[in-house]
Amino acid sequence: MKIAILSRNASLYSTSRLVEAARVRGHAVRVLDPLRCYMRISRSGFDMHYKGRPLHGFDAVIPRIGSSITFYGTAVLRQFEMMGVYTPNCSDAVLRSRDKLRSLQLLARQGIDLPMTVFGDYPDDTTDLLQMLGEPPHVIKLNEGTQGQGVLLAEKRSSSQGMIEAFRGLYANFVVQEFIGEAGGGDVRCFVIGDRVAAAMHRQAQDGDFRANLHRGGTASAVTLTEQEIEVALRAASIMGLGIAGVDLLRSNRGPLVLEVNASPGLEGIEEATGIDIASAIIAHIEPGQR
Ligand SMILES: Nc1ncnc2c1ncn2[C@@H]1O[C@H](COP(=O)(O)OP(=O)(O)OP(=O)(O)O)[C@@H](O)[C@H]1O
Ligand SMILES: [Mg+2]
Repeated sequence: MKIAILSRNASLYSTSRLVEAARVRGHAVRVLDPLRCYMRISRSGFDMHYKGRPLHGFDAVIPRIGSSITFYGTAVLRQFEMMGVYTPNCSDAVLRSRDKLRSLQLLARQGIDLPMTVFGDYPDDTTDLLQMLGEPPHVIKLNEGTQGQGVLLAEKRSSSQGMIEAFRGLYANFVVQEFIGEAGGGDVRCFVIGDRVAAAMHRQAQDGDFRANLHRGGTASAVTLTEQEIEVALRAASIMGLGIAGVDLLRSNRGPLVLEVNASPGLEGIEEATGIDIASAIIAHIEPGQR
Protein backbone atom coordinates (compact mmCIF):
# COMPACT_ATOMS: atom_id res chain seq x y z
CA MET A 1 0.00 0.00 0.00
CA LYS A 2 0.92 3.64 -0.32
CA ILE A 3 0.06 5.39 2.93
CA ALA A 4 -0.03 9.11 3.74
CA ILE A 5 0.25 10.32 7.31
CA LEU A 6 -1.10 13.82 7.79
CA SER A 7 1.08 15.32 10.47
CA ARG A 8 2.85 18.61 10.96
CA ASN A 9 6.05 17.01 12.14
CA ALA A 10 7.61 13.71 11.10
CA SER A 11 9.77 13.59 14.22
CA LEU A 12 6.84 13.45 16.66
CA TYR A 13 6.80 10.13 18.51
CA SER A 14 3.40 8.97 17.20
CA THR A 15 4.19 9.97 13.63
CA SER A 16 7.62 8.36 13.54
CA ARG A 17 6.27 5.14 15.11
CA LEU A 18 3.55 4.93 12.44
CA VAL A 19 6.14 5.45 9.69
CA GLU A 20 8.37 2.77 11.17
CA ALA A 21 5.50 0.28 11.54
CA ALA A 22 4.27 0.93 7.98
CA ARG A 23 7.76 0.28 6.55
CA VAL A 24 8.17 -2.90 8.61
CA ARG A 25 4.86 -4.15 7.21
CA GLY A 26 6.11 -3.49 3.68
CA HIS A 27 4.23 -0.33 2.80
CA ALA A 28 5.38 2.88 1.17
CA VAL A 29 4.65 5.75 3.52
CA ARG A 30 4.93 9.54 3.38
CA VAL A 31 4.43 12.13 6.06
CA LEU A 32 2.58 15.14 4.67
CA ASP A 33 2.26 18.44 6.51
CA PRO A 34 -1.44 19.20 6.04
CA LEU A 35 -0.69 22.92 5.82
CA ARG A 36 1.49 22.27 2.76
CA CYS A 37 -1.22 20.31 0.92
CA TYR A 38 -3.19 22.55 -1.43
CA MET A 39 -6.16 21.50 -3.44
CA ARG A 40 -8.25 22.10 -6.53
CA ILE A 41 -11.95 21.46 -6.46
CA SER A 42 -13.81 21.34 -9.73
CA ARG A 43 -16.74 19.62 -11.37
CA SER A 44 -14.38 17.34 -13.20
CA GLY A 45 -12.54 16.16 -10.11
CA PHE A 46 -10.33 16.73 -7.11
CA ASP A 47 -6.58 17.30 -7.14
CA MET A 48 -4.00 18.03 -4.54
CA HIS A 49 -0.42 19.26 -4.73
CA TYR A 50 2.40 19.21 -2.20
CA LYS A 51 5.38 21.51 -2.49
CA GLY A 52 4.89 21.88 -6.24
CA ARG A 53 4.13 18.26 -7.10
CA PRO A 54 0.88 16.34 -7.50
CA LEU A 55 -0.20 13.90 -4.83
CA HIS A 56 -1.68 10.74 -6.22
CA GLY A 57 -1.81 6.99 -5.86
CA PHE A 58 -2.41 6.87 -2.10
CA ASP A 59 -4.44 3.93 -0.81
CA ALA A 60 -4.92 5.15 2.75
CA VAL A 61 -4.43 8.28 4.81
CA ILE A 62 -3.95 8.43 8.58
CA PRO A 63 -4.88 11.85 9.95
CA ARG A 64 -2.89 13.14 12.93
CA ILE A 65 -4.39 16.61 12.89
CA GLY A 66 -3.64 18.85 15.85
CA SER A 67 -6.52 20.83 17.31
CA SER A 68 -4.90 24.13 16.30
CA ILE A 69 -5.27 23.26 12.59
CA THR A 70 -8.59 21.40 12.71
CA PHE A 71 -10.28 23.51 10.03
CA TYR A 72 -7.60 23.32 7.34
CA GLY A 73 -6.50 19.82 8.31
CA THR A 74 -9.99 18.37 7.94
CA ALA A 75 -10.42 20.15 4.59
CA VAL A 76 -7.28 18.37 3.36
CA LEU A 77 -8.52 15.07 4.77
CA ARG A 78 -11.88 15.57 3.04
CA GLN A 79 -10.07 16.21 -0.25
CA PHE A 80 -8.30 12.84 0.15
CA GLU A 81 -11.72 11.27 0.76
CA MET A 82 -13.07 12.92 -2.42
CA MET A 83 -10.11 11.44 -4.28
CA GLY A 84 -11.17 7.97 -3.09
CA VAL A 85 -8.47 7.46 -0.46
CA TYR A 86 -9.43 5.32 2.56
CA THR A 87 -9.15 6.78 6.06
CA PRO A 88 -9.99 5.11 9.38
CA ASN A 89 -11.06 8.51 10.77
CA CYS A 90 -13.05 10.54 8.27
CA SER A 91 -13.11 14.33 8.26
CA ASP A 92 -16.67 14.49 9.62
CA ALA A 93 -15.77 12.26 12.56
CA VAL A 94 -12.63 14.27 13.35
CA LEU A 95 -14.64 17.50 13.26
CA ARG A 96 -17.39 16.02 15.41
CA SER A 97 -14.89 14.91 18.06
CA ARG A 98 -13.31 18.38 18.19
CA ASP A 99 -16.58 19.87 19.39
CA LYS A 100 -16.62 18.59 22.98
CA LEU A 101 -20.12 19.73 23.79
CA ARG A 102 -21.60 18.25 20.66
CA SER A 103 -19.74 15.00 21.33
CA LEU A 104 -21.26 14.76 24.81
CA GLN A 105 -24.73 15.40 23.35
CA LEU A 106 -24.31 12.69 20.72
CA LEU A 107 -22.96 10.17 23.23
CA ALA A 108 -25.63 10.85 25.85
CA ARG A 109 -28.37 10.51 23.25
CA GLN A 110 -27.18 6.98 22.57
CA GLY A 111 -27.29 6.08 26.25
CA ILE A 112 -23.58 6.53 27.04
CA ASP A 113 -23.15 7.71 30.63
CA LEU A 114 -20.97 10.74 31.34
CA PRO A 115 -20.39 13.23 34.14
CA MET A 116 -23.49 15.41 34.25
CA THR A 117 -22.62 18.58 32.34
CA VAL A 118 -24.14 22.05 32.16
CA PHE A 119 -23.39 24.88 29.77
CA GLY A 120 -24.82 28.37 29.51
CA ASP A 121 -24.15 31.78 28.09
CA TYR A 122 -25.99 34.48 30.00
CA PRO A 123 -24.41 35.61 33.29
CA ASP A 124 -27.76 36.12 35.03
CA ASP A 125 -28.53 32.43 34.51
CA THR A 126 -25.51 31.12 36.41
CA THR A 127 -27.34 30.50 39.68
CA ASP A 128 -30.05 28.41 38.04
CA LEU A 129 -27.49 26.69 35.81
CA LEU A 130 -25.60 25.49 38.90
CA GLN A 131 -28.91 24.50 40.49
CA MET A 132 -29.54 22.27 37.47
CA LEU A 133 -26.19 20.59 38.06
CA GLY A 134 -26.65 19.93 41.77
CA GLU A 135 -24.45 20.12 44.82
CA PRO A 136 -20.73 20.94 44.56
CA PRO A 137 -17.92 19.98 44.17
CA HIS A 138 -18.00 20.98 40.51
CA VAL A 139 -15.41 20.68 37.78
CA ILE A 140 -15.10 23.70 35.51
CA LYS A 141 -13.50 23.10 32.12
CA LEU A 142 -12.40 25.71 29.67
CA ASN A 143 -13.18 24.53 26.14
CA GLU A 144 -9.84 25.78 24.84
CA GLY A 145 -7.81 23.86 27.42
CA THR A 146 -5.95 20.61 26.82
CA GLN A 147 -3.66 18.44 28.90
CA GLY A 148 -5.45 19.37 32.07
CA GLN A 149 -4.87 23.11 31.69
CA GLY A 150 -8.08 24.96 32.35
CA VAL A 151 -9.68 22.11 34.34
CA LEU A 152 -10.52 23.36 37.83
CA LEU A 153 -12.19 22.01 40.92
CA ALA A 154 -14.66 24.17 42.81
CA GLU A 155 -15.45 22.73 46.22
CA LYS A 156 -18.15 25.22 47.17
CA ARG A 157 -20.98 26.86 45.33
CA SER A 158 -19.42 30.28 45.97
CA SER A 159 -16.16 29.20 44.33
CA SER A 160 -18.06 27.78 41.33
CA GLN A 161 -19.87 31.07 41.00
CA GLY A 162 -16.66 33.07 41.35
CA MET A 163 -14.71 31.05 38.80
CA ILE A 164 -17.60 31.20 36.34
CA GLU A 165 -17.83 34.96 36.70
CA ALA A 166 -14.08 35.28 36.15
CA PHE A 167 -14.19 33.12 33.01
CA ARG A 168 -17.21 35.03 31.70
CA GLY A 169 -15.25 38.26 32.18
CA LEU A 170 -12.54 36.83 29.96
CA TYR A 171 -15.09 35.73 27.33
CA ALA A 172 -13.94 32.13 27.75
CA ASN A 173 -16.10 29.15 26.83
CA PHE A 174 -16.48 26.48 29.47
CA VAL A 175 -18.66 23.68 30.76
CA VAL A 176 -19.37 22.74 34.36
CA GLN A 177 -19.60 19.11 35.46
CA GLU A 178 -20.38 17.09 38.53
CA PHE A 179 -17.14 16.04 40.23
CA ILE A 180 -16.62 12.27 40.24
CA GLY A 181 -14.71 12.00 43.51
CA GLU A 182 -14.66 8.21 43.62
CA ALA A 183 -12.44 8.16 40.49
CA GLY A 184 -9.77 9.12 43.03
CA GLY A 185 -7.76 11.28 40.63
CA GLY A 186 -7.56 8.45 38.10
CA ASP A 187 -8.91 7.96 34.61
CA VAL A 188 -8.65 5.19 32.04
CA ARG A 189 -7.53 5.66 28.44
CA CYS A 190 -8.87 3.00 26.09
CA PHE A 191 -7.12 2.85 22.74
CA VAL A 192 -9.72 1.69 20.22
CA ILE A 193 -8.64 0.29 16.86
CA GLY A 194 -11.56 -0.89 14.73
CA ASP A 195 -13.76 -3.23 16.72
CA ARG A 196 -11.42 -3.84 19.64
CA VAL A 197 -9.67 -2.05 22.46
CA ALA A 198 -6.05 -2.63 21.51
CA ALA A 199 -4.61 -1.34 24.79
CA ALA A 200 -5.67 0.46 27.94
CA MET A 201 -3.88 2.37 30.66
CA HIS A 202 -4.83 3.82 33.98
CA ARG A 203 -3.54 7.30 34.65
CA GLN A 204 -3.20 8.51 38.20
CA ALA A 205 -2.92 12.16 39.23
CA GLN A 206 -0.05 13.41 41.29
CA ASP A 207 -0.76 13.65 45.02
CA GLY A 208 -2.93 16.65 45.74
CA ASP A 209 -4.31 16.90 42.18
CA PHE A 210 -7.46 15.39 40.68
CA ARG A 211 -6.33 15.63 37.03
CA ALA A 212 -4.76 12.44 35.72
CA ASN A 213 -3.05 14.07 32.71
CA LEU A 214 0.51 12.86 32.19
CA HIS A 215 1.48 16.46 31.37
CA ARG A 216 0.33 17.41 34.88
CA GLY A 217 2.64 14.87 36.48
CA GLY A 218 0.25 11.92 36.37
CA THR A 219 1.63 8.39 36.08
CA ALA A 220 0.42 5.66 33.73
CA SER A 221 0.19 1.91 34.07
CA ALA A 222 -1.38 -0.92 32.10
CA VAL A 223 -4.87 -1.83 33.25
CA THR A 224 -7.31 -4.66 32.62
CA LEU A 225 -10.72 -3.41 31.57
CA THR A 226 -14.05 -4.82 32.63
CA GLU A 227 -16.44 -6.14 29.97
CA GLN A 228 -18.60 -3.09 30.54
CA GLU A 229 -15.68 -0.69 30.06
CA ILE A 230 -14.74 -2.38 26.80
CA GLU A 231 -18.30 -2.17 25.56
CA VAL A 232 -18.63 1.50 26.48
CA ALA A 233 -15.31 2.40 24.83
CA LEU A 234 -16.21 0.59 21.60
CA ARG A 235 -19.69 2.09 21.51
CA ALA A 236 -18.38 5.61 22.16
CA ALA A 237 -15.85 5.35 19.32
CA SER A 238 -18.51 3.95 17.03
CA ILE A 239 -21.05 6.68 17.85
CA MET A 240 -18.39 9.25 16.99
CA GLY A 241 -17.66 7.39 13.75
CA LEU A 242 -13.98 6.92 14.59
CA GLY A 243 -12.04 3.79 13.60
CA ILE A 244 -9.11 4.88 15.76
CA ALA A 245 -9.91 6.65 19.02
CA GLY A 246 -8.68 7.32 22.51
CA VAL A 247 -11.69 6.97 24.79
CA ASP A 248 -11.18 8.39 28.29
CA LEU A 249 -13.28 6.93 31.07
CA LEU A 250 -13.81 7.75 34.72
CA ARG A 251 -14.53 4.81 37.02
CA SER A 252 -17.59 5.90 38.97
CA ASN A 253 -20.01 4.27 41.41
CA ARG A 254 -22.58 4.08 38.63
CA GLY A 255 -20.19 2.51 36.11
CA PRO A 256 -17.82 3.87 33.45
CA LEU A 257 -18.40 7.49 32.44
CA VAL A 258 -17.03 8.84 29.17
CA LEU A 259 -14.95 11.98 29.57
CA GLU A 260 -13.80 12.41 26.03
CA VAL A 261 -13.25 10.68 22.71
CA ASN A 262 -9.99 11.74 21.09
CA ALA A 263 -9.53 11.38 17.31
CA SER A 264 -5.71 11.65 17.37
CA PRO A 265 -4.69 9.77 20.50
CA GLY A 266 -0.97 9.83 21.23
CA LEU A 267 1.02 6.60 21.08
CA GLU A 268 3.91 7.37 23.41
CA GLY A 269 2.25 7.13 26.82
CA ILE A 270 0.23 4.04 26.00
CA GLU A 271 2.98 2.11 24.21
CA GLU A 272 5.28 2.83 27.12
CA ALA A 273 2.75 1.88 29.80
CA THR A 274 1.52 -1.31 28.13
CA GLY A 275 4.43 -2.46 25.96
CA ILE A 276 1.92 -3.01 23.15
CA ASP A 277 2.92 -2.13 19.61
CA ILE A 278 -0.01 0.15 18.84
CA ALA A 279 1.58 1.60 15.70
CA SER A 280 1.68 -1.82 14.01
CA ALA A 281 -1.88 -2.54 15.11
CA ILE A 282 -3.03 0.70 13.45
CA ILE A 283 -1.21 -0.10 10.20
CA ALA A 284 -2.55 -3.66 10.23
CA HIS A 285 -6.06 -2.27 10.72
CA ILE A 286 -5.94 -0.10 7.60
CA GLU A 287 -4.68 -2.90 5.36
CA PRO A 288 -7.33 -4.09 2.89
CA GLY A 289 -9.29 -6.98 4.35
CA GLN A 290 -8.82 -5.73 7.93
CA ARG A 291 -10.85 -2.51 7.71
N1 LIG B 1 -16.02 15.47 36.11
C1 LIG B 1 -14.85 15.05 36.58
N2 LIG B 1 -14.75 14.45 37.80
C2 LIG B 1 -13.55 14.03 38.28
N3 LIG B 1 -12.38 14.18 37.63
C3 LIG B 1 -12.41 14.76 36.42
C4 LIG B 1 -13.63 15.21 35.83
N4 LIG B 1 -13.36 15.73 34.62
C5 LIG B 1 -12.03 15.61 34.45
N5 LIG B 1 -11.44 15.03 35.53
C6 LIG B 1 -9.99 14.77 35.67
O1 LIG B 1 -9.29 15.82 35.05
C7 LIG B 1 -8.50 15.35 33.97
C8 LIG B 1 -8.54 16.35 32.81
O2 LIG B 1 -9.86 16.50 32.32
P1 LIG B 1 -10.21 16.43 30.76
O3 LIG B 1 -9.62 15.21 30.16
O4 LIG B 1 -11.66 16.60 30.64
O5 LIG B 1 -9.49 17.73 30.22
P2 LIG B 1 -8.16 17.88 29.37
O6 LIG B 1 -7.30 16.67 29.54
O7 LIG B 1 -7.58 19.20 29.69
O8 LIG B 1 -8.73 17.94 27.94
P3 LIG B 1 -8.42 16.99 26.73
O9 LIG B 1 -8.52 15.58 27.28
O10 LIG B 1 -9.44 17.37 25.77
O11 LIG B 1 -7.02 17.32 26.31
C9 LIG B 1 -9.10 13.99 33.61
O12 LIG B 1 -8.13 13.18 33.03
C10 LIG B 1 -9.58 13.49 34.96
O13 LIG B 1 -8.52 12.89 35.66
MG1 LIG C 1 -7.95 14.64 28.98
